[in-house]
Amino acid sequence: MKKRSIAILSIIIVILFIAHRLRAQDTAPAAHAGDEGLALTPPMGWYPWNEFGQEPQNEKLIKEIVDALMTSGLKEAGYAYVGPDEGICFSRDASGKLTSNLERYPSGLRGLGDYIHKKGLKYALYTDAGTRTCSKAMPGTKDHEFEDMAAFAEWRADYVKIDWCNTQGQDVAKSYTKLGEALHASGRPIVFSLCSWGEGQPWRWAASVGNLWRTTGDICAPGKADWNNAMKVAAANEKLHEAASPGHWNDPDMMIAGMQGLSETQNRSFFSLWCMMAAPLMAGNDLRKMTASTVHILTNLEAIGINQDPLGIQGRIARRNGKVEIWAGKPLFDGSQAVLVFNQGAAPAQAQVTWPDIGLAESAALYVRNLWTHQTTGPHSGGVSVTVAPNDVALLRISKANTFPVPPIIVADTYLVSLRAEGSTTRKLTAMVTVKTNGSKALPLWKVRPGLPSWLSVSVTESGKTQKLTNTVSTAGLKKGLYHALVRADNIEPVSGRPMSALYYDVDLEITSGGAGRVSK
Ligand code: GLA
Repeated sequence: MKKRSIAILSIIIVILFIAHRLRAQDTAPAAHAGDEGLALTPPMGWYPWNEFGQEPQNEKLIKEIVDALMTSGLKEAGYAYVGPDEGICFSRDASGKLTSNLERYPSGLRGLGDYIHKKGLKYALYTDAGTRTCSKAMPGTKDHEFEDMAAFAEWRADYVKIDWCNTQGQDVAKSYTKLGEALHASGRPIVFSLCSWGEGQPWRWAASVGNLWRTTGDICAPGKADWNNAMKVAAANEKLHEAASPGHWNDPDMMIAGMQGLSETQNRSFFSLWCMMAAPLMAGNDLRKMTASTVHILTNLEAIGINQDPLGIQGRIARRNGKVEIWAGKPLFDGSQAVLVFNQGAAPAQAQVTWPDIGLAESAALYVRNLWTHQTTGPHSGGVSVTVAPNDVALLRISKANTFPVPPIIVADTYLVSLRAEGSTTRKLTAMVTVKTNGSKALPLWKVRPGLPSWLSVSVTESGKTQKLTNTVSTAGLKKGLYHALVRADNIEPVSGRPMSALYYDVDLEITSGGAGRVSK
């Protein structure tokens, strides 16, 4: 009897020990997760799939979109990541190496990346975790994970979306974990966007692997914005709110705001939902043909401020009243709260947002800012009443103070410094990177990470909300050839004290054997 109990006890201890080890493995973050300071607020940018599908994705289209980002004001509002999706941009050669499709992308994928970086934007690329991409037009990364991520790093991608087509027999978590390791091994800090459409429940494990993960199937077929499906996507994504945090985002897919078939009201509501859910703000409409109203919606800095809040909390539905939803649970960096009232009914609705709804004392005297009308009222006690048209929203910010600061929105004039000098004489060259914030407050000085090569030094100077990173290169002792450095600078958001996404840019130096040295950006 006694022997039997000892045996049972030993088995229980072994089981508990194994369970503990498994749990520890589940939750242990990969060594690199978070070290690179990537996407500490949701990534913002543009991706082609929702509007265009595979055709006509090519260099011309991406360059036209880059121009539109610059001229429309979207770049100024923080949209930065841009590049082809499944756009037939590379193939695999006989030796197994990825090579650019020069017919569609005559500058090559590195050339396209340089173009994007020179404009002060970030470069996004796409591939697949299986044997081929979805349309089978491009090779997938299966069994080539490390070489392929090295190719993406050589092309100087800053963001890689990895799809989940043609993955028969593959395990989701294992496949993406391997790809995350391969990205890390590439040596270039790259935002990792997992795209398994929710398969394998990435919200449970992907925070230690990548920066964002799709939570649902596609939001629409290319070119066909679908409001009802978008609402289903939002509802599914809402349930996962606990998984979001700085550097790790639920991704309910690229936006459909501004696509044909959606009304101005629907665009505003869609954008408010994505802001409230701390969702990546990847525009999916044709930026070359936007109405003034679409631009106005996509560049509303007060709404974007909710999305880019440094605390990185995803809002959720706090209460439903028939077809009216009250979204809350989104405290912001300055102690205020975001609240969204969304009316999915067919008639205008009057809704009462009470302070207890959002976890505050009924007696509190609070100011209410409407982020679409840009008007503040109050102080109110107990709550506030709003009237909301069908399909429309009231996006509110509620605060003890009568000030509503916008967190940092970072915009740079370039992310690529190119310098060229003649080899025979020692030269000192300088080139500037100008970085500004379109948030309410000036930032502390960006701190450049030590460890730059001996030929490069960077100093930072400040003037209000703009800072200049002056790159000084000395060619003393350098031989003819190409030199490269990736500069990293870090900062702290001054109101919350939270770390900001790291700022990275490339410096290229070419030493030629003849000709005058010159400086170019
Ligand atoms: C999947 C993804 C889409 C897009 C296409 C490309 O469907 O979810 O976002 O990348 O593949 O084929």
